[in-house]
Amino acid sequence: MKKTVTSLLQMKQKGEKISMLTCYDYSTAKLMDAADIDMLLVGDSLGNTMLGYSDTLAVTMEDMIHHGAAVVRGAGNCHVVIDMPFMSYQPSVYDAVVNAGRLIKETGGNSVKLEGGAAVKEHIKAIVDAGIPVVAHIGMTPQSVNAFGGFKVQGKSEEAAAKILQDAYDVQEAGAFAVVLECVPAKLAALISEKLTIPTIGIGAGEGCDGQVLVFQDMLGMFSDYVPKFVKHFADCGQIMIQAFKDFDAEVKAGSFPEEKHCFKIDDEVIKKLY
Ligand code: KIV
Repeated sequence: MKKTVTSLLQMKQKGEKISMLTCYDYSTAKLMDAADIDMLLVGDSLGNTMLGYSDTLAVTMEDMIHHGAAVVRGAGNCHVVIDMPFMSYQPSVYDAVVNAGRLIKETGGNSVKLEGGAAVKEHIKAIVDAGIPVVAHIGMTPQSVNAFGGFKVQGKSEEAAAKILQDAYDVQEAGAFAVVLECVPAKLAALISEKLTIPTIGIGAGEGCDGQVLVFQDMLGMFSDYVPKFVKHFADCGQIMIQAFKDFDAEVKAGSFPEEKHCFKIDDEVIKKLY
């Protein structure tokens, strides 16, 4: 059964945890659907993992549409969330609605995600009023990396924690159906998860959240530029891939690949005539 806004909300009500992974392409989406992952996030982290930028600020609407549409084609029953890239919603509520609409129309995704709390309340409300489900994202919001002075844990002081709690209430009131909590202390995330009726999806926010999200290259050990404390390697695919690439290189150079079974045949008489 396709995961919908309603079924995801019911998961929170029943105390069932929600799994979300970032996904940027068709074949990975098919594998994640086969694994019954609840939500696929076409994150603007594709700027780091797929495009090699040092942050997400250069990611464009076209990048998100290109990857989002590919993920949707392979997503099966997974609910697909498409990230709104930097400056696609911040300038105005109008921009937010138009660009959220483009993301849904041109990818076939099921919802959009945007970063910020109180500051984007009106934007969230207008997108939801236009019929597009919204996932909010508060705490450490990577599009504000320059304002934060780096990728740092947020909400440690009483004032900062109270601000994040208020952001959580604000995005819920604005109509978001779920909220990502990134890099906030575990006890604060647990408190927010208790207070909200919508599901919280944590990344670096501890086990008290209603769900968890990881970047797929991080959880598979495929991305070593920067490995945050909250990442767990569920498999070491990076090393497996390097070994496979080495084996390919060695077999090509030794002439042991391809073997006969990998080759197409032609009648000897046909070939003879070409000599
Ligand atoms: O873009 C992304 O991958 C994200 C996750 C870190 C939640 O927003």
